[in-house]
Amino acid sequence: MNLILLGPPGAGKGTQAQRLEQKHGLIQLSTGDMLRAAVAAGSEIGREAKAIMDRGELVSDAVVVSIISDRIGQDDARSGFILDGFPRTVAQAEALDHMLNERGLKLNAVIEMKVVDDILVERITGRYSCGKCGFGYHDRFLLPKVAGVCDKCGGTEFKRRADDKAETVSSRLAAYHAQTAPLLPYYQARGVLRAVDGMADIDEVSQQLEGILGQLA
Ligand code: AP5
Ligand code: MG
Ligand code: ZN
Repeated sequence: MNLILLGPPGAGKGTQAQRLEQKHGLIQLSTGDMLRAAVAAGSEIGREAKAIMDRGELVSDAVVVSIISDRIGQDDARSGFILDGFPRTVAQAEALDHMLNERGLKLNAVIEMKVVDDILVERITGRYSCGKCGFGYHDRFLLPKVAGVCDKCGGTEFKRRADDKAETVSSRLAAYHAQTAPLLPYYQARGVLRAVDGMADIDEVSQQLEGILGQLA
């Protein structure tokens, strides 16, 4: 099964993609994570992307399309994937259609995670993740079972994203509304658009997603 999770920054795309990956063996393909890995590695793409990401703007279509095209072609993606944070512009969606066609793959659903802007700032500024395995947490909404110790791997180092400051969140939201929201009618017209209530608590959102996967199977 091949899915897209579509929603504004902080909507819960990464949180739910990690859960779907664990439960269904679908591979999470997050362009944000891939770009952050490029930044950490100090590659040329990483150096260029860093300044753009720190401003809360979108990296060029050409860069992210080429990253995703390489990744989708790898063996582990053949059993199904969840796109998290891609596509983010109509040009990226068209490029995705093209690369899926070429490989004989299809999109089973595009799932919109609906959340109003007001609560996204709190979600984003409270977010942190395990430095060792990357598992995501939140200061208020999702704490490790034992304080300071990752539930998944026992790691004790945690990190926060450079673009998770309140000032940057408003540019990221503006980019979402201007450049990414037009994908909703794009996928609606193709009959693949579904939606979940991203304002519900984390487990409830997971249940809604499981319901959709059940209908698709
Ligand atoms: P990216 O990494 O994709 O960031 P984003 O889209 O801004 O989304 P986030 O990762 O912030 O949010 P999320 O929906 O994953 O939420 P999460 O599950 O963590 O992109 C970063 C940057 O890279 C972009 O700004 C751009 O510059 C560049 N980029 C990436 N892809 C690109 C592309 N395709 N084209 C161009 N540029 C690109 O949840 C947030 C927090 O809330 C967590 O702490 C979580 O625990 C908590 N939470 C989650 N769900 C709930 C819930 N239901 N209730 C309460 N709390 C919750
Ligand atoms: Mg994310
Ligand atoms: Zn961990």
